[in-house]
Amino acid sequence: MRLALELEEHDRLYYQEDAPKVSDAEYDALRQRFNAIEKRFPEFVSAQSPSQKVGAAPSGRFRKVRHAVPMLSLDNAFAEEDVRDFVGRITRFLKLADDRIDFSAEPKIDGLSMSLRYEGGELVTAATRGDGAEGEDVTANIRTLEDVPQQLKGRHVPDVCEVRGEVYMTKKAFLALNERQKAAGDTIFANPRNSAAGSLRQKDPSITASRPLGFFAYAWGEMSAMPEATQSGMIHWFERCGFRTNPLTKLCHSVEALLAFHRRIEEQRGELDYDIDGVVYKVDRLDWQERLGFVSRTPRWAIAHKFPAERATTVLRDIEIQIGRTGSFTPVGKLKPVGVGGVIVQNVTLHNEDYIKGVGNKGEVLREGRDIRIGDTVVIQRAGDVIPQVVDVIIDKRPKGAREFHFPKTCPCPLHTDVVREEIATGEEGSRARCSGEFACPYQKVQHLLLFVSRRAFDIDGLGEKQIEYFFEQGWVREPADIFTLQQRNARLKLEDIEGYGETSVRNLFNAIEARRRIALERFIYALGMRHVGETTALALARGYGSWEAFHDACLKVARGDEEAVAEMDALDQIGETVIESIAAYFGESHNRGIVERLVREVTILDAEKPKSNSPIAGKTVVFTGTLTRFTRDEAKVAAERLGAKVAGSVSKKTDYVVAGESAGSKLDKARELGVRVLSEEEWLNLVS
Ligand code: IVH
Repeated sequence: MRLALELEEHDRLYYQEDAPKVSDAEYDALRQRFNAIEKRFPEFVSAQSPSQKVGAAPSGRFRKVRHAVPMLSLDNAFAEEDVRDFVGRITRFLKLADDRIDFSAEPKIDGLSMSLRYEGGELVTAATRGDGAEGEDVTANIRTLEDVPQQLKGRHVPDVCEVRGEVYMTKKAFLALNERQKAAGDTIFANPRNSAAGSLRQKDPSITASRPLGFFAYAWGEMSAMPEATQSGMIHWFERCGFRTNPLTKLCHSVEALLAFHRRIEEQRGELDYDIDGVVYKVDRLDWQERLGFVSRTPRWAIAHKFPAERATTVLRDIEIQIGRTGSFTPVGKLKPVGVGGVIVQNVTLHNEDYIKGVGNKGEVLREGRDIRIGDTVVIQRAGDVIPQVVDVIIDKRPKGAREFHFPKTCPCPLHTDVVREEIATGEEGSRARCSGEFACPYQKVQHLLLFVSRRAFDIDGLGEKQIEYFFEQGWVREPADIFTLQQRNARLKLEDIEGYGETSVRNLFNAIEARRRIALERFIYALGMRHVGETTALALARGYGSWEAFHDACLKVARGDEEAVAEMDALDQIGETVIESIAAYFGESHNRGIVERLVREVTILDAEKPKSNSPIAGKTVVFTGTLTRFTRDEAKVAAERLGAKVAGSVSKKTDYVVAGESAGSKLDKARELGVRVLSEEEWLNLVS
């Protein structure tokens, strides 16, 4: 992707030459934009993308730190209705007789989340969030913050405490810093968040020390013992340990109180001396948090209630097409840079051909039918982390020379294959366009190789965009398996003779490749690059099947339309029709099966860790049926999966237990017929507790 190359060049200038060509603010805006695109279109993720290198993931300048407990994010609510749904969901999930759930309501600080690890009461590591699993070690810099105690106060602190919270810069300090920077001819920051990030990312801690950064504690990671039983209790405990916590935090007893809190904080927003972008509601009781657990990467027990999206008006200068790994085309609007909600936006997604014409996904009229032309003045909106959108076109300001955009009819890849519109579930033509080249499109092959070597897949150091493209062009690496045979072919290829390479870098590359011959199942599945199979889905599949053999066998069966295999896959948590169809399509192609076979010969795929395998239901398949009175289906499912069981929707001879509630019907009959063990709710609870 062009933006990736641009950022790579900025990185090189900044890190290696210490001579940045753009300000940090411009760089951060570019990077944020990039992260947003990747989040929205995971198929765009390339190995060398900025999100994989700087900020969002360790930059390489700081030591990497693996978080003992992952740093996850929050689901968002925008409307009051979303908050009511959130509370309703929790009430139902917990099957509470009344809806009296206490919530800790807290401002959502717009800074950088940080995990501070204390051992024996002493600060040992401070790590950024990074990609949630791994962050950067910024301990030396964090030690300069007044709000972060070097030593926890109190006599009986648990041996291991990971205190988490937000590092931020006050608006006043931000303005003063920018004044100083300007006077010295240094970087001007776009907003307090970026200046806090820039200040933390200093190689020299004395620079961080000169930048006034604050820290609010609000969460925790690994704790060898829990000192309190509620979120609000933990907040007070943080205070007793010597931390600052946000003074606006409030315990609320009803949805109405939460909404009133949101309104009040929004009114105060402008007067606060730090940026906030919403409020966060968290179930106060930690035992309830535990029961509620997580859905994918966000807790079920908390939500961020964002403030409304901010809008701005600017000129659309151009439209470019970005091509994803699966060949999908996304038009991206290039804007005259404009500040919206604290960041500078210069790119905006235009989704697809129809969207530009003023037609929605379901054929509905958008913007009262106003199309988008190059040169138009557009209204853009940015809500939180969501990718900026064009919400309207100001027709009165349309210049005479405004140009209509003609969507490409052929792929810019050397094959110039036709661009086709994707079919959607109904069999009709969807609005998303893609290159029809599929396996033949070299562009898609390169994109797949880039995903394959990327940090979250095989994570091969030294194989970035440039190398992959070059090796591909030379015909040395055409598919993933070729990476693992490079070394044995090197007598002929002589990589060390390539300009810019040397013996050391070639040796390093081969070592990096060798180090990845053993690979976790979830990474392997993700690295195959199947559509709709992102990291989370890959993990769910890996956990569900446990081994490559079991997964592969299931995929081949699914591709052949084996109903039992389909039902079994469907029964896995987080796996649905779209994923199954995509897996069937992938394994239905002999070309793909060949790629997989050749690759499997080169690597060792490690079995997935089964959660809590010592539990009596680990590896068992359970079906819940009838009306459950002691817990909800959702809760039962989550609890069973946490203990390593698989929850299926239908009874087959592979079912180990059927848990039958009141008035159970045909599934119970089937269980009896097949001789499957039937448990009452009580018996089930006895088994799992
Ligand atoms: S709780 C499991 N509380 O918002 C999630 N997060 O979208 C734990 N944030 O990465 C996070 N203020 O950087 C929590 N009072 C608050 C927060 C807060 C700001 C940030 C944090 C997190 C992001 C989640």
